[in-house]
Amino acid sequence: MLKDDGPMIITVGNTKGGVGKTTLAVQIAIARAIAGSDVWLIDGDRQGTAAAAIAARAQAGRQPGIACAQYPEGPALRGQVQQQVGKWQDIVIDAGGRDSTALRAALVLSDVLLVPFAPRSYDVWALDDMAALIDEARSVRDGLRCFAVMNQADPGIKSTDNADAAAAVAEVPQFEYLPSPIRRRKAFSNAGGAGLSVSELPTKDPKAIAELDTLVASLFNVQSMS
Ligand SMILES: Nc1ncnc2c1ncn2[C@@H]1O[C@H](COP(=O)(O)OP(=O)(O)OP(=O)(O)O)[C@@H](O)[C@H]1O
Ligand SMILES: [Mg+2]
Repeated sequence: MLKDDGPMIITVGNTKGGVGKTTLAVQIAIARAIAGSDVWLIDGDRQGTAAAAIAARAQAGRQPGIACAQYPEGPALRGQVQQQVGKWQDIVIDAGGRDSTALRAALVLSDVLLVPFAPRSYDVWALDDMAALIDEARSVRDGLRCFAVMNQADPGIKSTDNADAAAAVAEVPQFEYLPSPIRRRKAFSNAGGAGLSVSELPTKDPKAIAELDTLVASLFNVQSMS
């Protein structure tokens, strides 16, 4: 539908809270803008954390500026995206931390769903909730690709821990597992609050930058392949 002539619409969503949805949505939006794309970031969460981060970025006069709107209600989010879709190359939606109308609307509009989860068993179980929502979205719209990515992984994490998570995700057939985790690093929390990319921080964390680059590349190669 939107794919051939419209932008890449990516939702960062998980019904579980605190998994890094806002952090990753803000990082992905800024990374795409730095790469030259016209990006619209939509904050679908009443808390407005992503919008606040982008407001801080604007107040600091940081270029490129990021267009950002907040639509915590599904009908408004859907209506606005349908009307504005032709103006953007990438739309990144931070869908908020519950089974909300905004999340359901976003799933039906999106080409890609990115589900961050923490390497703890109860986060992996929460993927079942998302799987049900994915089935529902796919029943009304073909072509939604869904990726699960581990976030806030322990920097010292052993590959066996990753393998456990990968195996757990593999049991949820709705998801493709992205094998490159984002680790818990101060650069991500510091950058997020200031509305900056990890690559824009005055003190560079090359590992954080590399992890984000890998994530963005794997998400956006999806589009060029299809
Ligand atoms: N990779 C990371 N490294 C370090 N800190 C992180 C990382 N990812 C997220 N955080 C921190 O974890 C906290 C929760 O992240 P975030 O707000 O992005 O999650 P969320 O899923 O959007 O939460 P909510 O459900 O409340 O919307 C924040 O303080 C954020 O700075
Ligand atoms: Mg959030």
